[in-house]
Amino acid sequence: MNLEHAYNIADLREIARRRLPRVAWDFLERGAEDDITLRRNRAVFDEIKLKPRTLVDVSGRSLATSLFGATYNAPFGIAPTGAAGLYCFEADMALARAAEAAGIPFVLSTASFVELERVAREVGGSKWFQLYMSKERESAGRLVRRAADAGFEALAVTTDVPVIGNREFNRRNGFEVPFRLNVANAIDGALHPRWLVDVFLRTLMTSGMPRFRNADANVDGRIVAKNLAEFRARRDALDWSDLRWLREIWPRKLLAKGILSAEDAKQALENGVDGIVVSNHGGRQLDGAPSPIEVLPEIVAAVGGRLAILADSGFRRGSDIVKALALGADFVFVGRPALYGAAAGGEAGVAHAIGLLRTEVERVMALIGCPTVGALDANFLTPPEDIPASMAGR
Ligand SMILES: Cc1cc2nc3c(=O)[nH]c(=O)nc-3n(C[C@H](O)[C@H](O)[C@H](O)COP(=O)(O)O)c2cc1C
Repeated sequence: MNLEHAYNIADLREIARRRLPRVAWDFLERGAEDDITLRRNRAVFDEIKLKPRTLVDVSGRSLATSLFGATYNAPFGIAPTGAAGLYCFEADMALARAAEAAGIPFVLSTASFVELERVAREVGGSKWFQLYMSKERESAGRLVRRAADAGFEALAVTTDVPVIGNREFNRRNGFEVPFRLNVANAIDGALHPRWLVDVFLRTLMTSGMPRFRNADANVDGRIVAKNLAEFRARRDALDWSDLRWLREIWPRKLLAKGILSAEDAKQALENGVDGIVVSNHGGRQLDGAPSPIEVLPEIVAAVGGRLAILADSGFRRGSDIVKALALGADFVFVGRPALYGAAAGGEAGVAHAIGLLRTEVERVMALIGCPTVGALDANFLTPPEDIPASMAGR
């Protein structure tokens, strides 16, 4: 199968699965522990029924979506993914370029294989930076200043990684960054020659062993970090005072990513953020956490209209995106779908993934009789009494 025969995100996923060695595939695809939350992220969408209205003129339909004063061409963007460079050569650039071409936002991960300054310099469009924050204010401040100097429009601080989730498959596969070769990985790599040559060897030859570039000691001749440990220092000690401090030093839009309760949404609001990302990290952190879709209604009831409510985790179809918007989300982000695209066809593959989702959202909007993103609300869902008890917060 090639790109033109990928008719949906599941097809792109299948191409990616065949191309990638196990160590890279598992890191992309799996969740934490028993994948309960990972599965729930998908299953929850089956429980929500759309309520179509007929004989509505949708000929002038538009996916234009306003967020933070900008207008995007679709109600979704590309979530931050660390180690994306395992999926295509310089994936961070490919993701940013495809997002720019599509007119949607792209969030660069702290854990990117390309320095944030280079992504900012070489790609236009709407670029946000995801922050893995250290408790040590000196190093945290240095990274935040770099993102500000580079011109990133928004800062999304990830709050759901006080410690890394239990991903046993990584240990089983010997997954590490900087990447280290062991016998099993070398054999697996040899069995996936296209990935070995196009991604791994090309990266090795241009910039050495894949590693987290924002943690390099030296970028553009400036000392920017001492080492990787500096970025991770005492992350388990972070609390709301650190968010308040970020609010003081970060001049643009600030988001807290990884919120899953009305209580935390209110705390985020009180501490001055402009938006929250309702997210369980794609099922990669706490196994047993709810799906964002299940908690969206109570979060919207608590803080809706007072800050932007974004959601990610499990979105694979345009209808999933429409359902979240109808439940009150202002915007959606996708992680793995963009990486499936990157693995299946580099920048063109990412563009294909975006195009598929965009077309699906547009088709669903026509089929439910809703011409604009702004008009999507709970009237396009089955009545509340038919909605499972777990979602009845609305
Ligand atoms: C391979 C991979 C790497 C990720 N790296 C990061 C990261 O560096 N920072 C972060 O905040 N979230 C990270 N995430 C989580 C995503 O930002 C997002 O929350 C999640 O992928 C959404 O779920 P989805 O993949 O089902 O769309 C990562 C996800 C994946 C799949």
